[in-house]
Amino acid sequence: MDTVAKKSNAQRAKEHLFVAQQPYYEEPLTLVNGEGTRLRDDQGREYLDAFAGIATTTLGYGNTEVAQAVAEQAKELIHVSTLYLTEQQLDFAEKIAEIAPPGMTKSFVSNSGSEANETAALVARTAKNSADFLALEYAYHGRTVYTVAKAGLSNWRNFGPQMPHVAFVPNPYCYRCPLNLTYPSCEIACAKSAKRVIETQTNGAPAAMIAETIEGVAGIIAPPLEYYQVLKETLAPFGTLLIADEVQAGWGRLGDGWFGMVSTYGVVPDIITSAKGLASGLPIGITITRPELADAFKGPHINTFGGNPLSTRAATVTLEVIEKKHLIANAKKQGDALLAGLRELQKRFPIMGDIRGHGLMIGVELVKDPKSKAYDAPAANRMLEAMRERGVLLGKGGRWGNVLRIQPPLIFSSDDVKEFLKAFESSIKSL
Ligand SMILES: Cc1ncc(COP(=O)(O)O)c(C=O)c1O
Repeated sequence: MDTVAKKSNAQRAKEHLFVAQQPYYEEPLTLVNGEGTRLRDDQGREYLDAFAGIATTTLGYGNTEVAQAVAEQAKELIHVSTLYLTEQQLDFAEKIAEIAPPGMTKSFVSNSGSEANETAALVARTAKNSADFLALEYAYHGRTVYTVAKAGLSNWRNFGPQMPHVAFVPNPYCYRCPLNLTYPSCEIACAKSAKRVIETQTNGAPAAMIAETIEGVAGIIAPPLEYYQVLKETLAPFGTLLIADEVQAGWGRLGDGWFGMVSTYGVVPDIITSAKGLASGLPIGITITRPELADAFKGPHINTFGGNPLSTRAATVTLEVIEKKHLIANAKKQGDALLAGLRELQKRFPIMGDIRGHGLMIGVELVKDPKSKAYDAPAANRMLEAMRERGVLLGKGGRWGNVLRIQPPLIFSSDDVKEFLKAFESSIKSL
């Protein structure tokens, strides 16, 4: 008879995983399986998932079309490397060219958002013959050395000495304007300030500026709708390219079209990077651009797993299901309902300082009092725990860790919205 007590998963993680991983919750959650918008833990408890594995499980859990395609593909061929072609990668690249803005017909497929941004930087550097870059304050672009250099959040710049040549532009954070101005009378001065940053802190011709369409990790900082137009016009005289980091905002999440910067903000960037929701949770990253930029980067460039037949097949099927089930329109509909419901609650709960976002990318910034806007990070932690107790998962972010992030699968239904809002109301009351 086995008399040795089974270790808890928290203990096993402590013994064998890097402490840097930092799972959510005081008692980390061990997840076992899922269906639709629901996840189940190892105690058999069910959760409504409003964070989608960080905005990634676009089609929810157990989607049969993706599961079937992946199973078939796994039997056929899983891996070849970028040294060979596969029908799956070519079909996928053609599909991307079909849905990308006109002219953006070439892509490089990798395994993650960080890699997609690294590739974009290589392309921009080569095409523009400049190693200087601009990024936004509070930005997050990944965990490789180059992307950490572009992090505008001090807690994520934790690598020791950073690569030089990245200058930061004040971000479009209207709730806490870095320039102390008020929208719309500010006339988007934050975007215009890129001119001064270029003139004073770079070589005068930065290769590119990278920007998350909506800053996610920073707490869903959604710029005013004219922001990217003004930014692009400001960058143009310097020949500086605009890279849209759509790792979180892409594939319909903002509810207006495939790419948030293009459809919600009306601006076509020079390079689009993405990852997360593209392959329903299989690892993938992508860098999309025009032939003249892509072809300026002669390589050689290699990525062992990049463009593998399993992930690219899953991605093509994911895009087809998004189209077939009209999930972009659903993101808009459910996102609007969530925003409206949260704004109703805000009237009664002043701790909800700011509510912002588009489609199914929504942030609720918690403050100690709406006048001082003093940030309330402990309340955000308590909200996460309270929502978990009520069977709902959501995320957290923000420069001060005081923003709740709501980024569910795009299949979120009207009933899910009602259930979410009910749990949210009860949780915020419990604070
Ligand atoms: C906007 C943005 N860019 C890049 C990344 C990095 O992606 P990955 O973790 O897949 O490397 C993330 C991850 O959260 C992200 O939110």
